Amino acid sequence: MQTIIINIKELLQVRELAVEKVCGAEMAVLPTIKNAYLVFENDVITDFGAMENCPNLNAYITIDAIGKMVLPTWCDSHTHIVYAGNREQEFVDRINGLTYEEIANRGGGILNSAKKLNETSEEEIYNQSKKRLEEVMKQGTGAIEIKSGYGLTVEGELKMLRVIKKLSQNYPIAIKATFLGAHAFPTEYKENHSGYIDIVINDLLPKIATEKLADYIDVFCETGYFSVEETERIMEAGNKYGLRSKIHVNQFTAINGIAACVKHNALSVDHLEIVTDDDIEALKNCNTIAVALPTCSYFISIPYTPARKMIAAGLPIALASDFNPGTSPSGNMNFVVATACIKMKMTPEEAINAATLNGACAMGLSETHGSITVGKIANLIITKPLHSFYELPYAFASNLIEQVIINGNLIP
Ligand code: NIG
Ligand code: FE
Repeated sequence: MQTIIINIKELLQVRELAVEKVCGAEMAVLPTIKNAYLVFENDVITDFGAMENCPNLNAYITIDAIGKMVLPTWCDSHTHIVYAGNREQEFVDRINGLTYEEIANRGGGILNSAKKLNETSEEEIYNQSKKRLEEVMKQGTGAIEIKSGYGLTVEGELKMLRVIKKLSQNYPIAIKATFLGAHAFPTEYKENHSGYIDIVINDLLPKIATEKLADYIDVFCETGYFSVEETERIMEAGNKYGLRSKIHVNQFTAINGIAACVKHNALSVDHLEIVTDDDIEALKNCNTIAVALPTCSYFISIPYTPARKMIAAGLPIALASDFNPGTSPSGNMNFVVATACIKMKMTPEEAINAATLNGACAMGLSETHGSITVGKIANLIITKPLHSFYELPYAFASNLIEQVIINGNLIP
């Protein structure tokens, strides 16, 4: 049975011909059709156009979207939604003056989450994580990347990746899994970096490849975490197992990690709160996309990714939530889009491109997700009645979503 949505006030992100991503000045253009219809059959978009060309409704289940916008669901290409417990105390510690770095140096931060994760059963981690997944689906996310990285032991990392696999088996949403064993050095390897990297490369990677537990590999390339050389070693090892890199880099310091990621054909470089002119040069004319995480900047009060400078240089930018217990305990992509507009001065058109099509690109899903294109998955947000789509980021704390459709199914 086919479903038709009629009288759509404006259908956003319409791409007749599939494009992988939009770069630089192209990001300012968000193609739309006013007064539109859209048809999907099972989980696939089969037709759309202006209402004057609308087919006879007899053969369809009909949804009337008068006054409302329809757009593709958000593509959140960077999250850590599988974790145990939370870090509310660190939040209060930061309010009282400590920095993220000071908290991490006291054994808080990633190591705090790793301790909790290793003490929690797989079943309990699954139950906590599925609530977050269900929450973001209701908020309009229709494709998501999820990282490991709070295990930091062979058992812990495999446990996280199995939870991610189970989530992807049990929910209709597209999930990409990323192995982030190199998220931090466990305390016992503080002085023995190569010892821990050996575990990541020699013990974990082969198991992950055999069990097909990951699509991508990630490293936290940062002063005090993994050096550029260490990151390169892990990217090379990942590539041997067919895992392309998506790297945390330039969050707090610029250490020439971006050029190394481009050299190793990373799919994405993520964070980029601190960016030099050389970093921007390195990202020109390559297959590596920049992913900005504005709610991380918001939550821990660090600079925002310089989107204007990067767009002016012709680069593509994707937006993601970074949903994690330490630096962004929210996966609400509506707020991510609003924050990108308000704080990074991205226009609504640029921010919506960055959170749909470019987000899909940053997790290798452009062929099936991220735009209204015949043949793509029927992943749709139907908004409440709006004046214009500018209202989405403008009314930044309002819930303007009425219905979410993922794989052709209405999300309850
Ligand atoms: O993307 N920076 C590294 N990883 C996460 C935060 C991890 C944590 O604090 O738990 C991030 O911000
Ligand atoms: Fe992250």
